[in-house]
Amino acid sequence: MEVIIKATYEDMSRAAAQEVARILNTKPNAVLGMATGSTPLGLYRELVRMHRDEGLDFSQVTTFNLDEYVGLRPSHPQSYHFFMHENFFKHVNVPKQNIYIPSGSTNNYPSFCAWYEQRIEECGGIDLQILGIGSDGHVAFNEPGSSLTSRTRLKTLARQTIEDNARFFERREDVPIYAITMGVGTILEARELLLCANGKNKAWAVAAAIEGPVTGMVTASALQMHPHAKVFLDSDAAGELKMRAYYDWIEERRPGAPRYN
Ligand code: PGA
Repeated sequence: MEVIIKATYEDMSRAAAQEVARILNTKPNAVLGMATGSTPLGLYRELVRMHRDEGLDFSQVTTFNLDEYVGLRPSHPQSYHFFMHENFFKHVNVPKQNIYIPSGSTNNYPSFCAWYEQRIEECGGIDLQILGIGSDGHVAFNEPGSSLTSRTRLKTLARQTIEDNARFFERREDVPIYAITMGVGTILEARELLLCANGKNKAWAVAAAIEGPVTGMVTASALQMHPHAKVFLDSDAAGELKMRAYYDWIEERRPGAPRYN
């Protein structure tokens, strides 16, 4: 796992956007895995800016989102359909028919989940999966106790996640209790992973994911099993890392490192 620590949220978001641009420059028809939440907002803003000012092209891109709340219509302001449209898709040129977001309103979850997995495969698999991390260490909505080989499925949200996400809803009771989410196994099949985290409230989860044991109790720790995972942090989120000096040292020495590709 590569750990890249930036001073601010903006710097972290710009560095993460460069990774997405690198993929698109080598593979214009890349399949991107998208995430929602407050973390990737800066990354999406930067990608939108690059599209507008530098011609970063999404016309051949396909996207698959990680998760969606159950019971919210796509037009609900807190649905992830709405979030993605408002914060990203309406500002760039991903063709509508290439956008996949789990349905929060299907009446047959098992068959929808199987279809979603199948579509990912038919599109050639995900080239780069963008990820956030929950304060309980989850990736997507793979809450503590999830299998590290899990696939797309219906999941009951942890109380901690409901608390964390209550800030986006008028009332705590309005936060959905169920979600549909890609599994940890689904995520680990992406060719590259890009996890971003910022803020002090993520410091524990970040340290557990990067430096703790690989465990279903902190599903982000499964990234340790992936050969091409990069983690971009701001300095608050890096606050509890024991090996921080080493990660900074690696970054400092990177320009002089021997190239092997
Ligand atoms: P956040 O959510 O970006 O809103 O903090 C992250 C997550 O729960 O994965």
